[in-house]
Amino acid sequence: TGAITLDPGYKNTGACESAITFLDGEKGILRYRGYSIEELAEKADFLEVCYLLIFGELPNKSQLQKFNTDILDQSIVNEDMKTVLNGFPESAHPMGVLSSLTSALTAFNPKSVNVESEEDMYRAIVKILAKFPVLAAWTLRQKKSQALYNKDMNIGYVESLLKMMFQEGKTYKLNKKVVNALDKLLILHADHEQNCSTSTVRIVGSSHAGLFASISAGVSALWGPLHGGANQAVIEMLEEIKADGGDTSKFIAKAKDKDDPFRLMGFGHRVYKNFDPRAKIIKKAADEVLEQLGVEDPILEIAKGLEKAALEDEYFIERKLYPNVDFYSGIIYRAMGIPTEMFTVMFAVGRLPGWIAQWREMRLRKEPIGRPRQVYIGENHRKFKEIENR
Ligand code: CMC
Repeated sequence: TGAITLDPGYKNTGACESAITFLDGEKGILRYRGYSIEELAEKADFLEVCYLLIFGELPNKSQLQKFNTDILDQSIVNEDMKTVLNGFPESAHPMGVLSSLTSALTAFNPKSVNVESEEDMYRAIVKILAKFPVLAAWTLRQKKSQALYNKDMNIGYVESLLKMMFQEGKTYKLNKKVVNALDKLLILHADHEQNCSTSTVRIVGSSHAGLFASISAGVSALWGPLHGGANQAVIEMLEEIKADGGDTSKFIAKAKDKDDPFRLMGFGHRVYKNFDPRAKIIKKAADEVLEQLGVEDPILEIAKGLEKAALEDEYFIERKLYPNVDFYSGIIYRAMGIPTEMFTVMFAVGRLPGWIAQWREMRLRKEPIGRPRQVYIGENHRKFKEIENR
């Protein structure tokens, strides 16, 4: 009722109340359920953070064990899903394939579509947590025409994701350093309050479309280069700078030029007007992981040079543009042997618990269907014109 206020891109609109993630963009603070991201990245593992985000508390040992067992019980993906996957050309982008497969899950799990009770909700949640990493790994395998594997039930959530991605036949040598680094990255991506993909999940879910359909929509929203797709775009940009001879100033100038659509990828954020706390941790981790794995990547030096040049430049200072979560993450994924096109898929695996937590919160609070209004700027009433008179 009353006048409609225009708020393009929801810059000023709080669309919901939420008790999941606290974000102070001026101070650069990020907390999940009250716990600082720095402490969680250091001390928790990804599955514990999934539980924390979704159910509100860190799990004790028996809660965590039950959660893990419930997930493992659901981790076999229907064989017919492979037929769906194999219908895609190998050139298909993994994010499009992942979104489609997630949606296709509804066909093979029809009971998970309508959730009436908390038990229904729990069942749908463990199912998607179980099957999503399998689908993510399969998008990579299918591109390389490699055999598709199900989860190894005897190893952890993150280990089994890596194994499904990289195992050759039955063999896969787990590298603890890679596992730890990926665990940390997934935690840092796990939730970020009402960003584009999370708002998408909430709005799709608000029509009581099921969890899997809502997550599939979230994957599509995340794909864009202004959101999660930035991690792929950053590496492509750094490669371009390298191929061009490594002169960052030319690219800084392009980013500042308002007639040039080029933007510094991995820079800027709607909410952070200070360092993105995730970027700080990831930058440090990039140095550590590359050293531990004995990887030398000239792109890391280019990234550091570019960051320094931007942070000293009036244009970026005035607009409070800092490196965001996507700026250094790709360099770590690359050191792990993950192909560039898969980076946003890794982001999606990390963000899954956040999407689930926000969907669950919305349903439990019985929020109304999302239905934004508009400020109409079209024609007033007109008389119909017959086709001969147009
Ligand atoms: N390079 C150059 N200029 C920029 C950049 C950038 N990366 N980001 C913002 N600006 C400028 C923008 O042109 C505008 O300038 P002016 O005031 O002169 O018109 C000013 O800074 C404010 O930007 P905005 O576009 O109004 O800000 P927004 O809140 O609408 O957009 C953003 C936020 C993240 C989409 C944007 O900063 C951007 O496009 N960054 C590059 C893509 C990227 O790294 N995305 C990942 C975001 S973080 C993780 C995630 O969501 O997945």
